[in-house]
Amino acid sequence: MEQVAVHPQLKQVLVCCNQRGPDSTMPCCGDTGSEVYAKLRGWVTRYGLTSRIYVTQTACLGWCHGAGAMIAIQPDGIYLRGVTPADVDQVIERYLKG
Ligand code: FES
Repeated sequence: MEQVAVHPQLKQVLVCCNQRGPDSTMPCCGDTGSEVYAKLRGWVTRYGLTSRIYVTQTACLGWCHGAGAMIAIQPDGIYLRGVTPADVDQVIERYLKG
């Protein structure tokens, strides 16, 4: 194994985009997660922050919520659930800028 050198202020935003089958009784982040991911990724790209903020699609992060997506911001240990595309600007202002 090899340790990799990363930006000293690297943040990684994990966005659940998990999809469950139509027979599942569990909520999932699914399409909302994909929309949240696209909006976050667009912001990071637009402002040239791709080496400092990684936005990554994931499977289930474990706090499923039917009304929005689950995201985790590391290494800050921030976990947010029920995130919708309308919340993304607030996520950026509170947790990613600076
Ligand atoms: S399906 Fe997204 S946190 Fe479980």
